[in-house]
Amino acid sequence: MTAQLSKKGEAWSARFSEPVSDLVKRYTASVFFDKRLAEVDILGSLAHAEMLAYQKIISADDYAAIQKGMSQIQGEIAGGKFEWLLDLEDVHLNIEKRLTELVGDAGKRLHTGRSRNDQVATDIRLYLRGAIDDISGLLRELRLALLDLAEQHADTILPGFTHMQVAQPITFGHHVLAYVEMFGRDAERMQDCRKRVNRLPLGAAALAGTTFPIDRERVAKTLGFDDVCRNSLDAVSDRDFAIEFCASAALVMTHVSRMSEELVIWMSPRIGFIDIADRFCTGSSIMPQKKNPDVPELARGKTGRVNGHLIALLTLMKGQPLAYNKDNQEDKEPLFDTVDTLTDTLRIFADMARGITVKPDAMRAAALQGYATATDLADYLVKKGLPFRDAHEAVAHAVRSCVDQGCDLSDLSLEQLRAFSPLIEDDIFQVLTLEGSVAARDHIGGTAPRQVRLAIQHLRQQLG
Ligand code: ARG
Repeated sequence: MTAQLSKKGEAWSARFSEPVSDLVKRYTASVFFDKRLAEVDILGSLAHAEMLAYQKIISADDYAAIQKGMSQIQGEIAGGKFEWLLDLEDVHLNIEKRLTELVGDAGKRLHTGRSRNDQVATDIRLYLRGAIDDISGLLRELRLALLDLAEQHADTILPGFTHMQVAQPITFGHHVLAYVEMFGRDAERMQDCRKRVNRLPLGAAALAGTTFPIDRERVAKTLGFDDVCRNSLDAVSDRDFAIEFCASAALVMTHVSRMSEELVIWMSPRIGFIDIADRFCTGSSIMPQKKNPDVPELARGKTGRVNGHLIALLTLMKGQPLAYNKDNQEDKEPLFDTVDTLTDTLRIFADMARGITVKPDAMRAAALQGYATATDLADYLVKKGLPFRDAHEAVAHAVRSCVDQGCDLSDLSLEQLRAFSPLIEDDIFQVLTLEGSVAARDHIGGTAPRQVRLAIQHLRQQLG
């Protein structure tokens, strides 16, 4: 018996002798979360109907009726007037039922040569393609904001850390550019993922293809897909493209989270390297003195949920035999939440990056502690002919003596310094300054202000 929409609306009810219980109905329905696919579902249906008419599988009149009905449905959805029914299970059946109410048999013919299996796979790909484009735009905004911040602070000195201990002086611009690089790779990953998202499953029908003389390439072209999926079983069943997206999203959030961790540390009054504009912070209900960096903290926390969605999708897929299984309905909520979380986070961070106030004095004071120029002293000795390991040892002795005396290397007199190596002359003092130290690292990828400016120029060109 062919499936048809019964009075109650189930597309498959004629096969059954008893209705599903209310609980099962709720358990199996997806309409309350997949209705967000309505727009792309209609887009896909219109492209399918156009092809059916072009191939003379349905009449031109039926196609015209479908177009008319769909345009009314679009209006109803946009105006919040569309009635979504749990009884109709999902977004696809809700729209199809309404179409049939509006245009009669033409609505019932829309599903010719198609299944909800290839329909939903098409919808998710269309939706995700749009999301990737939005996210790519937001990554660009964030990178541009960070580039501006880096440019303002190409010369600002702060300590660079390893093991959370002062290591060597760096420029703040250079530090910020590290994140611009990370988000740049994230943007590349999104674009790469988009290539595999942008293929058309429609035509695979339930799993084996269809007996109708369809033209899949025509539909692909109408919908802006680069190619059609080449195997019908694969087309309806795999969600690897969504997993790949979630993996890329998890990496973006991981980078956001690392940056957030630094912002939180930098904003701590103990460190005081930056301030974040009030609109990104909140106070405490009990401690009047507090201004908490809520946005970076929340972003750090939300990274956990995005990572979780990746694991959910991987686990969803791993046990499924070919081809479509209802398990796949569970792909949507993790995917949608990943898109929402990432989109909101990037939008806020692009704005917040412009709300960061840098405190150069605090950064400088920190860089002056912790013997940040010890490596420069060692390099100096090497340039005077001492093998690096011997130079390292001589400087270690000097640092140790400074620790004992509670002073910095630059506080030692020439005479005191020469006690550690007679190669030291009075040109050493320039080397031991913070400015001398950063300026000396003047090669591609180095922290010298000159290189930071060149890197910014290069990145701006890339971003267009
Ligand atoms: N709501 C379903 C999903 O998200 C649509 C496909 C249903 N197909 C089926 N044979 N039950 O996957």
